[in-house]
Amino acid sequence: MGNAAVPIISSVAGAATVVVMIALIRRCRVVRKKMKKKIVKKVMEEIERRNREVQACKALDDVVIEIGPVEKFLNEILNEKPMRFSSEQLAACTRNYSSELGSGGFGVVYKGDLPNGLPVAVKVLKVSMNKKVQEGFMAEIGTIGRTYHVHLVRLYGFCFDRDTKALVYEFLENGSLDKYLYSDEEGKAARLEWRTLHGIAVGTAKGIRYLHEECQQRIVHYDIKPANILLTADFTPKVADFGLARLGERENTHMSLTGGGRGTPGYAAPELWMALSATEKCDVYSFGMVLFEILGRRRNFDPCEGESKEWFPRWVWEKYEQGEIERVVSCAGIGEADREKAEMMCKVALWCVQFQPAARPTMSSVVRMLEGEMAIVPPVNPFRYVMDSSSSGSTSSGLWSGTYQSSRDTAGRDSELSVSHAAMPVDAMIEDVKRSDE
Ligand SMILES: Nc1ncnc2c1ncn2[C@@H]1O[C@H](COP(=O)(O)OP(=O)(O)OP(=O)(O)O)[C@@H](O)[C@H]1O
Ligand SMILES: [Mg+2]
Repeated sequence: MGNAAVPIISSVAGAATVVVMIALIRRCRVVRKKMKKKIVKKVMEEIERRNREVQACKALDDVVIEIGPVEKFLNEILNEKPMRFSSEQLAACTRNYSSELGSGGFGVVYKGDLPNGLPVAVKVLKVSMNKKVQEGFMAEIGTIGRTYHVHLVRLYGFCFDRDTKALVYEFLENGSLDKYLYSDEEGKAARLEWRTLHGIAVGTAKGIRYLHEECQQRIVHYDIKPANILLTADFTPKVADFGLARLGERENTHMSLTGGGRGTPGYAAPELWMALSATEKCDVYSFGMVLFEILGRRRNFDPCEGESKEWFPRWVWEKYEQGEIERVVSCAGIGEADREKAEMMCKVALWCVQFQPAARPTMSSVVRMLEGEMAIVPPVNPFRYVMDSSSSGSTSSGLWSGTYQSSRDTAGRDSELSVSHAAMPVDAMIEDVKRSDE
């Protein structure tokens, strides 16, 4: 029995070994197939990645071909030609829109570099564009692209592809002024000396003056605010986003319906939110609001500041009226050496935000007053209409309005601004604004 079992056991063992071997071989085949699939997938991915890189480089090369070396690029700029980019070129310049600088009513702004090394900011527009707006877009590009000034942000080019509408601007290293005014941004606000802020105010005023009074085609900005004042590496200010007001309705950060999407609440002049026609004086009003924010290094409207200081401009007026203008200066932490300039800035701000557009100064007067070249007449109450209508609940309460007039002395210099007072209800004021527009 023992001897007979041995061959049976060995043949069973042999058969089992064969089965196991077959199973192992099959398993190996499956594993090999899987590995092969994985390797093929990886190789395909790598090929795809390389293809993408080659395409990106090709797009960059195309830009090089279009823009050429720096000389050609600069020549094109000198010839006043904003360049046209394709959407592929913009994707390559911005490394596929990987670095976001911020966003606003028109869309998102990305950091990019042109192939010649020039840093740019690419604003991808999200506004809806009907045919009329598209035509307006091209007209505006022509205007903006030909408007140069040391205090205006330069437009290098644009993209007008089917799916991508974008503007390519010079890049400003220090971003926008709002980051330095409101202390919620990592204490950055404290780092700018008041003198630098004063320089920023004067430079900005010169930029707006150029738009209103000096450039070939006069431009009203309609959206002056700290976020639209950009700063170079040495804190030279440049006004951004001029000429964009006609590009259609923006998102709900902006005035809508009555204002036609123009202006930002808090900075927009009364005529914009009252659906009255507006002139360049609406920029003067917004600039005045910016001056208040520079003086206070805070948002004009801040409920955290307590009731009396909740709306800073009105508090400034009250202090000014009570003969305590130094309280504004000391509260803003402005040193003795800068006191005189700060007081002047206070008065200029109060003049700029007068209710009646005609009572506001021109931007050239603003520049001269800020630089101490023009005497400043004591401002009249710009907020009487707000104060009275809020206390009486009526819009027809009596008001005082100042009239801003500049006169010239015999040497041709602006000497004084004369001012007259007249009681006037809001309704009458609106009529007055309408009449002065006609
Ligand atoms: N040329 C630029 N250089 C550097 N940063 C920029 C440039 N343009 C815009 N930015 C940054 O992108 C942010 C968003 O700009 P954007 O103009 O879209 O919004 P906004 O100014 O807040 O609103 P608005 O649509 O009214 O202009 C800015 O606050 C600024 O920080
Ligand atoms: Mg802007």
